[in-house]
Amino acid sequence: MKGESGGSLVWIGIATVVAVGWFIYKMRKRQKEKKDTNRGIPRGNSGWPLLGETLEFIASGYTSRPVSFMEKRKSLYGKVFKTHILGKGIIVSTDAEVNKVVLQNNGDVFIPCYPKSITELFGKNSILQMNGPVHRRVHGLIGSFLKSAQFKTRITRDIEASVRHFLSTWLEKQHCVYVQDEAKKIAFEVLIKLILSVGPGEELNLLKKEFEEFTKGLICLPIKLPGTTLYKSLKAKERLSKMVGKMVEDRKLSMEKREEKALPNDAIDVLLGYADGAKQPLPPSDFISGNLIEMMIPGEETVPTAMTLSVKFLSDNPVALARLVEENMELKRQKISSSEDYTWTDYMSLPFTQNVISETLRLANVINAVWRKALKDVKIKGHLIPKGWCVLASFTSVHMDEENYENPYNFDPWRWEKAGVAVTSTTFTPFGGGQRLCPGLELSRLEISIFLHHLVTTYRWVAEKDEIVYFPTVKMKSKLPINIMPFEQNPLIQTKQN
Ligand code: HEM
Repeated sequence: MKGESGGSLVWIGIATVVAVGWFIYKMRKRQKEKKDTNRGIPRGNSGWPLLGETLEFIASGYTSRPVSFMEKRKSLYGKVFKTHILGKGIIVSTDAEVNKVVLQNNGDVFIPCYPKSITELFGKNSILQMNGPVHRRVHGLIGSFLKSAQFKTRITRDIEASVRHFLSTWLEKQHCVYVQDEAKKIAFEVLIKLILSVGPGEELNLLKKEFEEFTKGLICLPIKLPGTTLYKSLKAKERLSKMVGKMVEDRKLSMEKREEKALPNDAIDVLLGYADGAKQPLPPSDFISGNLIEMMIPGEETVPTAMTLSVKFLSDNPVALARLVEENMELKRQKISSSEDYTWTDYMSLPFTQNVISETLRLANVINAVWRKALKDVKIKGHLIPKGWCVLASFTSVHMDEENYENPYNFDPWRWEKAGVAVTSTTFTPFGGGQRLCPGLELSRLEISIFLHHLVTTYRWVAEKDEIVYFPTVKMKSKLPINIMPFEQNPLIQTKQN
């Protein structure tokens, strides 16, 4: 009896200590929140000790409405709010105007801020992490190369070759094709061609294998011990750096031997300074090879995801698909009757196809947000972002906001024909903005256009049931299996030809 009452007393004691501790924690939290609000820091909830609101944030990524996390807090605290996720106090902006200010003030006010495993994997010289004049120079060189008409003319041939090659293998696959896998193969081949001028073959396969191992570490626990994902990923990066470093060295040698300066052929040439007439001293080889590898990251998953999701959305919207087929068949007929090659401008000037791409990018939110860290206290639209805090500028929230898009969850390529809906507006930022605006923007649109053109004029298909998952990155749960048949069997085309 005595033992039992003693035990109860201990439990009562523990419960009292916990209750008092919890009360003090809550009081302090409330006081801090009051102080923050008085300073102008947006309202919000910092959640549980240490964990913050991370679990809710991740859980929303596994639902069909990943913006539910943002929507709930937006309704409670307004379009800009405070939270605590992934170990950091963060200010989330779902406001297009605030996002614009964040994007346009890169370098002096905001710098990129990534989770630890990512910063560990990117070199300090990575374009994604560098800032100031070096960033401007590298971004400018890459951007003008990818935008040049000469590059787009050449890459159009490369993209067509890859798309045609992979599409030609589809009939052998017993008519069931995993679109996500196929899109990845096409996009990787194109990406490596433009960065390193390596075409299909053993070398490409090895690069692919090492790159895949390397990117596994981008979203993982930041533990660098033998056997861990991060460790294996860093080892793969070392091997990749060796391979790419050798290519850079070889190119340097052939550059030195050449008397005439040539136009850049790939990103190696660009970073070696060709585009600048080589007036400046060549940067060290490891700077170049590191940057070349890191340039593969933003291009590797984004384009194939957009390609795959465009097929998903079109499969679910036969009216939009029929309009796309009609527009692309018209171009195909013109090309067959004139026996001319396609030019990049042919693909880019198909208005409905471009609207399908814009609508896919809006709805898919391949890059759902960008993360920035404030270098000083900044006030935007009355909200204080204190020095050292991270800001998450949510693109998804803006793209899925009823104030910006009518029936935002509907796939409606026609909305882009209406007045006031424009790809240049602050409410449409799939490629970011400001000094870090994606340099691969036009290339991505061109690649997706070529893929869609040859797909819809070569095959028709029936997609199997599949769903989109949004965490950690956007993809199809079952890689989007489709059953294909040659286009000639398509009644729509037969009617047209008759
Ligand atoms: C649908 C396809 C794509 C989407 C949605 C996309 C999206 C983005 C976004 C949102 C950013 C800005 C990141 C930030 O502000 O921190 C970005 C940056 C970047 N993207 Fe893309 N991207 C795509 C394709 C590509 C391709 C194909 C390439 C390469 C050829 C590429 C290369 C880059 C690079 C190098 C940056 C860094 C720019 C800088 O920090 O200065 N992207 N991309």
